[in-house]
Amino acid sequence: MKRISLTQHLVEEQRNHNTIPAELRLLIEVVARACKTISHAVGKGALGDVLGSANIENVQGEVQKKLDIISNEILLEANEWGGHLAAMASEEMETIHLIPNRYPMGEYMLLFDPLDGSSNIDVNVSIGTIFSVLKAPDGMAAPTEQDFLQPGAQQVAAGYAVYGPQTVLVLTTGNGVHCFTLDREMGSWVLTQSNIQIPADTREYAINASNARHWHPPVTRYVNEMLAGTSGPREADFNMRWIASMVADVHRILCRGGIFMYPADVRDPSKPGKLRLMYEANPMAFIVEQAGGAATDGHGRILDIQPEKLHQRVPVFLGSKNEVERVTAYHKE
Ligand code: AHG
Ligand code: MN
Ligand code: MN
Repeated sequence: MKRISLTQHLVEEQRNHNTIPAELRLLIEVVARACKTISHAVGKGALGDVLGSANIENVQGEVQKKLDIISNEILLEANEWGGHLAAMASEEMETIHLIPNRYPMGEYMLLFDPLDGSSNIDVNVSIGTIFSVLKAPDGMAAPTEQDFLQPGAQQVAAGYAVYGPQTVLVLTTGNGVHCFTLDREMGSWVLTQSNIQIPADTREYAINASNARHWHPPVTRYVNEMLAGTSGPREADFNMRWIASMVADVHRILCRGGIFMYPADVRDPSKPGKLRLMYEANPMAFIVEQAGGAATDGHGRILDIQPEKLHQRVPVFLGSKNEVERVTAYHKE
């Protein structure tokens, strides 16, 4: 089998479609290299002093795990010196991270969730990294948080890595979705699936059902109809999966279809859902749409939302198109 490396894929994509200028290619390769380093740290587990809590709270009020901090630092360090970035933002940092002035400033802005699925770190279940790339506004001198507040439709690239039985990197630059598998012996990313398509129909859904008593009526209706199975209005049985790592749940949906939901509920109205728009929902929505699926907040396209805050939360419904459209339609009724 002829092996196509990440580098070859990016170079050819630029040659054929002109979507990956050299600076963006450098950025993607640097992020991919950082994910390799994170994957290595994750794989050490108890042997590497990477498990457990760091006993510090991040800006979301969540206690950080050691790996949240390690992964954040790996991504920051890897991306500072290349000259491809103007600034970075992360789930683990309250404000944006400027490029130190000993390095040149580039035209891209990188956002990431360095370690997604933190509750799974210590129990050896798949976790990952999610990232989103935006262009700095024209004529920007010193980047501010405001410069990051662009709708997801303006992303120029997005991707995620899953640290699971295999380490994979899934990437889009707006021309389909491609998956690379880490060859651990060679230390290289090898193209293992191109132009991934999510089936439009599915009989599998993912939601944290322990929140059921707090759901809004459209979500309750949608899930109850699936639970009713063949004798209910859907006239079909549905299966359920919930990994509690968005990366792993989304990856399964890319592989075999499904719908993933993290809705808003009737509790704290200042927290519309759990997931963060800028570095969780937007990159995943971009990937899912590029794979032929859909992603909404229950009302409209996630990628059309005008962000107001860096760490803003958003309800998420994404995956197989017909199911996402159905639950979105229930919100309108
Ligand atoms: P993070 O580890 O980056 O904070 O994200 C965790 C997120 C997401 O990955 C997952 O789908 C969800 O939280 C799980 O939430 P529950 O704990 O409510 O199941
Ligand atoms: Mn996350
Ligand atoms: Mn995280």
